Amino acid sequence: MSDERFHDLFGGEPSVRGSAAGRVNLIGEHTDYNGGFVLPTAIPQRTSVWLAPRGDRAVRIASAEIDQGAVRAYTLGSERREGNWTDYVQGVTRFLAEEGHRFGGFDAFIASTVPIGSGLSSSAALEVSILNALIAAFGLALDPPTIARIGRRAENEHVGARTGVMDQMAACLADAGTALFLDTRDLSYERVPLPPGAELVVINSGVSHDHSQGDYNARWAECEAACQLLGVAELRDIAIEDLAHVEALPEPLNRRARHVVTENDRVPRAVAAMKANDLAALGSLFDASHASMRDDYVVSVPAVDLLVDIARADADVFGARLTGGGFGGSIVALVRRGAAKAVAERVTRAYASRSGLTPTILVPPR
Ligand code: GLA
Repeated sequence: MSDERFHDLFGGEPSVRGSAAGRVNLIGEHTDYNGGFVLPTAIPQRTSVWLAPRGDRAVRIASAEIDQGAVRAYTLGSERREGNWTDYVQGVTRFLAEEGHRFGGFDAFIASTVPIGSGLSSSAALEVSILNALIAAFGLALDPPTIARIGRRAENEHVGARTGVMDQMAACLADAGTALFLDTRDLSYERVPLPPGAELVVINSGVSHDHSQGDYNARWAECEAACQLLGVAELRDIAIEDLAHVEALPEPLNRRARHVVTENDRVPRAVAAMKANDLAALGSLFDASHASMRDDYVVSVPAVDLLVDIARADADVFGARLTGGGFGGSIVALVRRGAAKAVAERVTRAYASRSGLTPTILVPPR
C-alpha cells in the first residue's frame, strides 16, 4: 500500500523502511530537563518511513497525514526553518551531517498513526523513524543515545521547541511489554516489565496541546530560576529529604520545584511497585503525580482533570494521570487486567457526554 504511494509520488521503489513508536510516559513528568527519572513505554501507534537514496543532494518528502500528501523538497546543506512539518526532517539531516555522518539525498514517504498534539510524542517518532531509515539506507553506525541526541537537537535547535531527552530515548528504546526506567542525567536505563495484574488505558482528551510551547518554556525557566536560588545545577540535586529548602522559595517557584522533586521521588517508588505487582501502590503514585501536575506544576487543563476524575472513579481503575507535557493531550490509567477495553469505553462515554469533547481511545488499540 505505502510502496504504491511511494511509487506514485516518486517513481521507483523504496529501498528501506524505518519506524519508531509513540510513547506514553507512566510517571516522571517534567523531570527530564531537570536531570531526573522517567518511565515511558511504547504505544502500538507508530510512524513509518519508506525511503530510497537518490544519488544527488536533493531531499523529497511527503506525509500521508499532512499537506494532503504533497511533496516538499529541500537540498542537503541548505536546511532552513520553514515553520512546517518538514522542519523535523530538515533538523535531523542538518545535525546528522554536522555530527560527521555521511549520507546523500533521498525520497521518503511518511505515514503515522501517532496522533499529533496528543502528548504521545509524534514528533520524536518522526525524528527517530527518519533516522532509522537513514541508518538502514546509508549504512550509518549510530547508537540509541546518538540517535536520541540528534533527534532532540532537531527539535530544540532547528524547530525551536525546548524539550528534554525522554521522547527520543523512548522512541529508540521503549517496547510495549516493558517500561523504560531512564535516568536522564547519564542515560542509563533498565527495562521493567509491566505488572502482570494490570493493563494500561490511554485516552486522548480531544484537547490538543498544539500551542503549548510557550507554557512549557515558562516552566523550564521557572526550574532554572529555582536552581539558581537553591544553588544547584539541576533540581535532580535536591533530595526529597531537603524539601524544606524548596518550600522556602518564593511563589510559584516553591510549587514548581516541589513538583519536580516529589515527582522524581515517585519514579523509583513506581518501579518498586511494578516489580512487586503492588497495583494499589502504583495507582496511588499515578494519582499523586496527577495532583502534583495539576496543583503545583499547573500543566493540566479542566477537561483533562475531568477525564482523570472519571477514570479514577471507575471500580476497575487503580490510578490515572495526565501523561506528557500537558496543557491538553492524553491520560494514562492503570486498570485491572482484563478490564481495559470496558473501562476505556465507559470512561470515554461519560467524558464525551460531560465535556462535549471527542476523546479517542489509543490503548487498548481497536
Ligand atoms: C514533552 C517533552 C519531554 C518531557 C515531557 C514532560 O513530552 O518533549 O521532553 O519534558 O514533555 O515530561
